[in-house]
Amino acid sequence: MNQPATEQPSVIYLKDYEAPAFLVEQTDLRFELEEEQTLVRSQVRYSRNPGCVSRQRPLVLDGHESLELQRLSIDGEVLSAQDYRREGEQLVIPDLPDSFTLECVTRIEPQNNTALEGLYKSDGMFCTQCEAEGFRRITFYQDRPDVMGLFETTIVADKQRYPVLLSNGNLVDGGDEEGGKHWVRWQDPFPKPAYLFALVGGDLEYVEDRYTTCSGRQIALKIFAEAKDLDKLEYAMTSLKQSMQWDEQVYGREYDLDIFMIVAVDFFNMGAMENKGLNIFNTSCVLAHPKTTVDTGFQRVEGVVAHEYFHNWSGNRVTCRDWFQLSLKEGFTVFRDAEFSADMNSRTVKRIEDVTLLRTAQFAEDAGPMAHPVRPASFIEISNFYTLTVYEKGCEVVRMLRTLLGAETFRKGSDLYFDRHDGQAVTTDDFVQAMADASGRDMSRFKLWYSQSGTPQLSISGEYDAEHQRYTLHMHQSCPASADMATKQPFLIPVAVGLLDPQGGEIPLNDGATTEVLELIAAEQSFVFENIPVEPIPSLLRDFSAPVKLQFPYSSEQLVFLMQHDSDGFNRWDAAQQLAVGIMSGLIGDYQQGRELRLEPALIRAYEQVLSNQGLDKAMVAKVLTLPTEAYLSELAEEIDVDAIYSVRRFVRETIAAALAPVFLQVYHDNNLVEEYSPDAASVARRSLKNLALAYLMATGKEDYLMLAQQQFDEADNMTDSQAALTLIVHSEHRQAASVVLESFYQRWQNESLVVNQWLGVQASDPTAGALMRVQALLEHPAYDSTNPNKIRALIAVFCAQNILNFHNSDGSGYRFLADQIIVLNTQNPQIASRLLTPLTRWRKYPAERSALMKAELERISVSGNLSRDVFEVLSKSLA
Ligand code: ARG
Ligand code: ZN
Repeated sequence: MNQPATEQPSVIYLKDYEAPAFLVEQTDLRFELEEEQTLVRSQVRYSRNPGCVSRQRPLVLDGHESLELQRLSIDGEVLSAQDYRREGEQLVIPDLPDSFTLECVTRIEPQNNTALEGLYKSDGMFCTQCEAEGFRRITFYQDRPDVMGLFETTIVADKQRYPVLLSNGNLVDGGDEEGGKHWVRWQDPFPKPAYLFALVGGDLEYVEDRYTTCSGRQIALKIFAEAKDLDKLEYAMTSLKQSMQWDEQVYGREYDLDIFMIVAVDFFNMGAMENKGLNIFNTSCVLAHPKTTVDTGFQRVEGVVAHEYFHNWSGNRVTCRDWFQLSLKEGFTVFRDAEFSADMNSRTVKRIEDVTLLRTAQFAEDAGPMAHPVRPASFIEISNFYTLTVYEKGCEVVRMLRTLLGAETFRKGSDLYFDRHDGQAVTTDDFVQAMADASGRDMSRFKLWYSQSGTPQLSISGEYDAEHQRYTLHMHQSCPASADMATKQPFLIPVAVGLLDPQGGEIPLNDGATTEVLELIAAEQSFVFENIPVEPIPSLLRDFSAPVKLQFPYSSEQLVFLMQHDSDGFNRWDAAQQLAVGIMSGLIGDYQQGRELRLEPALIRAYEQVLSNQGLDKAMVAKVLTLPTEAYLSELAEEIDVDAIYSVRRFVRETIAAALAPVFLQVYHDNNLVEEYSPDAASVARRSLKNLALAYLMATGKEDYLMLAQQQFDEADNMTDSQAALTLIVHSEHRQAASVVLESFYQRWQNESLVVNQWLGVQASDPTAGALMRVQALLEHPAYDSTNPNKIRALIAVFCAQNILNFHNSDGSGYRFLADQIIVLNTQNPQIASRLLTPLTRWRKYPAERSALMKAELERISVSGNLSRDVFEVLSKSLA
């Protein structure tokens, strides 16, 4: 009885980091890909790490229960069972010389790998996902990012089934073998950790292009996909070339191999992966065609192609010492791709979209049971830390560095960072140190952004002294306790500020500029502006200069004033958001008190003015007129009253629609041009404004507008317009029309997997009654595949995260449904199961009855047996 029934997964701490006992010089891999099994032979040249104090330490290799060890030998001598031991999933080999070659043969079954980590099959094609810890499912290895070495990979497979065999680096050899097989050999000249290893084998076709680098080198670019998707690769190719050029111009980074490949796969847990020279992409992040892809889909392809490409420097050439440093590469690379997208499209619109995501989802993460710093201090399962905090807040932290240092010094810092650490595995401290050295500034206080979790709150008030023409901003910062950390020290918060005079002009500030970056370092601090001739209206936290919650006692009139006059585009939008938030919060209170809802005219008047201002960027108009989402209102609420939030938002939308219908109709027609589809910023902006107008028109409930939507659905020559109309009709009370368009859409697109996902998503997010039953029926539909993460996300995740009325049905049916799905997915695909849990982890923010129902489902999952580390960690933290 000294053996516990189930072993509790252990916690791994940053403070326990130790350098590896052995270094790897060279890794030679040989794969024999077959239908029933894959044999992997690894030959690894190890030598003791001189930087490691103890010379006695054994070689500890990571492995996995799915690995079948067939042979192990050292310098040609086969090891017997006494020569090594299995400790859990690890293999421990003691008494080793200072350098040796270890050969290891393992047998794996990629065809049965439903977790989609390591080597697995997607639609009959072999592919890999090794980040973070997938390589240990291929062979026994020191599977950690600070072990870097050269790789050579030989692949043998049936030539007919798998004509294309790819790995990292350059193709150096190959040929035919008997039995209809062929083989290839790839060599990667750059040392890399195992998480950047990749292999692909399948019946693929490709498009090809070339790029000439700044130093005149010719790079072959190939994007691979199944034959049927070959017509959807042009946009990714264009985005890739633009990314390569941008990284040369903006960061001075040139590509280093002679070939760059991307492969599109249908079964993928995440968006994409930056494997050296061989990026592997979820089809949803690389395929794009006007007929099948919406505007936001094009933008996603552009952004993800850039993101993975940029990793070649920020991630591959300079990588992470350990997984606690994940944001070193992710935060920085998200910042790089965000700036790229901003340069390619509308900068302000990109900023609004990113901040919206941060303020809804990342702030909610900070406030929930999985809260963690940008550089986490501990984890149970690293896959759970590919989070909004590590990615999006990590990006904001890098952005603040640039704001504090200025663009030029920031570039000096990034040059120094790449130069100093090329070929190394380093830490976020090293990154900040490079910035400190380049600027000559002490950045130690800034590092709290990496080590402290939670969203800081910033309250500001203004004081005008007319006699001395002096304006003072009093600032106060605090940060509430998070699940993982009770008390916090004050952060260094860059607060970008402008002051507007009553005519809307910008008042020159202390150094003559109209925006000044104030550096708040204490809990309490005041900033004085001299020579301010009139009492100004401050524009605070311009361009969202820090990831904080800002409070300033603006009146509605002042917010409307800022909407019209602020020279900072982000703050013009944010003023509209805060105006709407204030009004809607009041209405939520009214709803809860049973009072009749009335919309004060300020918002309608402000919206009308924005609509009639011809000079405004259309994309901005569409953003300004989009009401705060239910998710944002939920995040802001002390306690989430789903019915109140839904009803109020709907009421406000319908009231605005009724008041401004003629204007919206005009806007609709003005922007409904007959033109060839193009994903450029101006065309995207026109479509977004047109479809926003159509949404308001549909909100009136009038038949005329249903006909307009139907007409758009029938006549659209692009997926953006088609899907917008489909969604509006399906989410309306016109049930008959809804089933007609759904059926015709499916008939037309049933062979386009990604379009079918949109079709599933539209139904999953349908707020009308009975959505859960329809979602459950769709689980049985031939279009659904319970092993494909994209389908799971389109149906289950969309229902649980976006369909707040039906998911939070007071009978608990939504919660029960999700728990049932998670119990199945826990064994099948732990990463996806764990991610799906998110909505239930927020149970403490709901009123008592719903909260109890949610908690009960979490408890039911926790006793369902055999929990994966992924699900165990989220559950135990949620129930703690
Ligand atoms: N590094 C990839 C990216 O660029 C993400 C890989 C995530 N993989 C995972 N198993 N969590 O975003
Ligand atoms: Zn990344």
